[in-house]
Amino acid sequence: MHPITVYAHRGFSAVAPENTMVAFRKAAEAGAHGLELDVHFTRDDQIVVIHDETVKRTTDGKGKVRELTLEEIRRLDAGSWFDGEFRGEKIPLLSEVLELVADRGLSVNIELKNNKTAYPGLEEAVLEWIGRFGLVDRTVISSFNHYSLRKIRDLRPEVDAAILYMANLFEPWNYARNVGATSIHSYWPTTVEDMVKRSKEAGVPVRPFTVNQTKEMRRMIHLEVDAIITDKVDRLLKEIRDAKE
Ligand code: G3P
Ligand code: MG
Repeated sequence: MHPITVYAHRGFSAVAPENTMVAFRKAAEAGAHGLELDVHFTRDDQIVVIHDETVKRTTDGKGKVRELTLEEIRRLDAGSWFDGEFRGEKIPLLSEVLELVADRGLSVNIELKNNKTAYPGLEEAVLEWIGRFGLVDRTVISSFNHYSLRKIRDLRPEVDAAILYMANLFEPWNYARNVGATSIHSYWPTTVEDMVKRSKEAGVPVRPFTVNQTKEMRRMIHLEVDAIITDKVDRLLKEIRDAKE
């Protein structure tokens, strides 16, 4: 059967607080092949792993990530909101997650959250870190900001850069090539047979997000997408195993 890479969305976020080290470790332990994570710059230009522009939803603090220093951010509890057993989890630095990725031989999908907030220099800084950890061949950089992806490819043409989008784009494989990107991270409802087939023919891998329903997992496996991004790592791995039998 066609091999499908399983990316744990914000780590194994079905069972642990999203974008924390415990969620990333649990993803690796469950057998995920890769980790998906979101990055922002702090006030002092450190790259931290968090989804939202603000710390409100996933920590005990408040304010914009961009307006807090790393020291302020590291004092926050990023685990209790999910469950008391995760109290004391911190917002990780990108470098901490990349260390885990390198140690465990995983792949990584770094999503640049520079669509709402401009983070000048984020592309250069992320490329610097993946180079330092020797992860260029195992990294996909994605973003809803496609100008940023063009910049990534201009800086490092060997890096896989994936367009993220929600709309039902017309011929996204052509659009991706026009951007200078190399792959497609499509919203699952727009990931349909003709689109997957024609993207593959064009040599553009398709990796839908965020696929959590069993029925949709089965549909994606049947479509032979290249990878699937999910919160439910264990469920998806089981569906892939079952499809092989
Ligand atoms: O990278 C796929 C997915 O994470 C994009 O949306 O909002 O979950 O970061 P979001
Ligand atoms: Mg994301």
